[in-house]
Amino acid sequence: MFFKSRTHTCGELRESSIGQRVVLNGWVDTWRDLGGVIFIDLRDRYGITQVVFEPHISEAAHHAAKHLRSEFVVSIEGTVRMRPEGTANPTIPTGQIDVLGDSVTVLNQAKTPPFQIKEDSEASEELRLKYRYLDLRRPDMQRNMLLRHKIYQIVRRYFDANSFVEIETPVLMKSTPEGARDFLVPSRVHKGRFYALPQSPQQYKQILMVSGFDRYFQIVKCFRDEDLRADRQPEFTQIDVEMSFVDVDDIFKIVEGLMVNLYRDAWGKELTTPIQRLTFDQAMEHYGSDKPDLRFDLEMVTLNEVFRTTTFKVYQDALNNKGIITGLNAKKCGDYTRNQLDVLTDFVKKNGAGGLIWIRVKEEGLEAPTMKFFTDDEQKNLVTAMNAKPGDLLLILTGPRIKTLNIMGSLRLEMARRLELVKKDSEPKLLWVTDFPLFEWDEESKRWFAMHHPFTSPKIEDIQYMESDPGKVRARAYDLVLNGSEIAGGSIRIHNKELQEQMFKALGLNEEETHEKFGFLMNAFEYGAPPHGGFAFGLDRLVMIFGGLQSLREVIAFPKTASGISLMDECPSPVDEQQLKELHLRLRQ
Ligand code: AMO
Repeated sequence: MFFKSRTHTCGELRESSIGQRVVLNGWVDTWRDLGGVIFIDLRDRYGITQVVFEPHISEAAHHAAKHLRSEFVVSIEGTVRMRPEGTANPTIPTGQIDVLGDSVTVLNQAKTPPFQIKEDSEASEELRLKYRYLDLRRPDMQRNMLLRHKIYQIVRRYFDANSFVEIETPVLMKSTPEGARDFLVPSRVHKGRFYALPQSPQQYKQILMVSGFDRYFQIVKCFRDEDLRADRQPEFTQIDVEMSFVDVDDIFKIVEGLMVNLYRDAWGKELTTPIQRLTFDQAMEHYGSDKPDLRFDLEMVTLNEVFRTTTFKVYQDALNNKGIITGLNAKKCGDYTRNQLDVLTDFVKKNGAGGLIWIRVKEEGLEAPTMKFFTDDEQKNLVTAMNAKPGDLLLILTGPRIKTLNIMGSLRLEMARRLELVKKDSEPKLLWVTDFPLFEWDEESKRWFAMHHPFTSPKIEDIQYMESDPGKVRARAYDLVLNGSEIAGGSIRIHNKELQEQMFKALGLNEEETHEKFGFLMNAFEYGAPPHGGFAFGLDRLVMIFGGLQSLREVIAFPKTASGISLMDECPSPVDEQQLKELHLRLRQ
């Protein structure tokens, strides 16, 4: 070998090593020439060690060190010593010592990097993504990757210890309608046919239950061609799980056990179980979201009862159309200016509301342009229902139930942001949301969609409404929500053919279509499918929250931008005419 390999890493040496001869390999983090003595900070993923080159120790090494620059890869040899009095650096673990270098070999040179390799980079995200290999050298990115690694290990240990079997499922599969758009892969051999990249291994894991594997898990890449946000990537990783002969509580027990392990070993926190549960209806009515952030109160109040006999037309309409009147008490915001109230009104209008009713709570009573529409009794009941105190600001929205609750939920988050209700040291809040509706009505296509996926079981007592009143049917489905982010979701599945057919019918899929799309699963179900259910975690989201980060891109080694581009390798990219031809594809001009 042309260089000496390391005896220690750059994060390892301490006072106990003083006097030892060592070889270190790494990158030059910083280089300084202080009047004839050259100092370098040598870096690897374990830490930083200062190396000093003095001419009287080795003329040759000192000379060679003069030519070092940031990010050169070097091997140095020398003796560990105590740093001279007053030069110790208590901020790093190796700060008491340095290495007096007597030999240096340049293993590779480096161009000047486009940004400094340091904690809290000021470089733009675009630049960081283009030079991701340099970005990943930064200590915060290395920490994020190590946290991710740790989570993989905890997950694997936990499931293995609980008799789960890790099984890989295909990345090239059949295109099936599942919520998002599929990424398609054209077949060269079979003209006009396509594979799809899995949005999740949903059907395979159910088939594995039919095959008798009983407890399956996999850390698996999933692909969804959907609009991206800070918490969405087109390819992301799930911790995917399926279990046989279980009901909801068995699944919760497994998930809660995993969360206890993750909190303790990856986050250094204690989690008390059982985890709080809210039904979908409770979550929507009180927090205006199916993934409520419970780190702050700011609870919404349903006011339908207060205004049951109202003469105010807007409220009457809502009540007559099974709509909702929902209120939010913004504590101590009664002195908001007209301008601030206009901003809030614009906010809800952008989210689809017709308008926002606001009421200032004063010592002498309620004050608002709409006050003339409310009777004294209504005003009194409103104050009681909303626990209103002088100085508060009451915000009221009205309209179709789910839509209006969602808008108020957004306003709740917006007020929390304005009032800085989430603090850096706020306790994390984890909860289950249960009893989701089985179906979701789509106004555009005028049809019912499966809120989770078409294999989700209805609650047994609600099966009777599948045809007559689909909106009333609740699902045996659940989500796990951490700090207002959906980190996992799942359900008990339909395991019998008749119920599955009923489900497809409710979704408007005829027999031919269901056979075409899901025939293989339906066939499997005819050969003894056990009752089963499962869930999947969004692993990237979990790492993001544990790491206290704001974007999934911080926890994925090579992520895509918000517009789905990988800036480092510049994909998606055009392909050769010949490649297209082989795939029987032609681009439309
Ligand atoms: P679901 O679609 O809810 O369920 O996905 C499970 C979890 O995956 C995460 N997630 C994402 N993370 C990053 N980017 C995305 N584009 C993205 N989409 C989803 C979320 C979500 O909670 N097969 C079912 C699970 C089951 O029923 O067992 C499924 O995929 O954290």
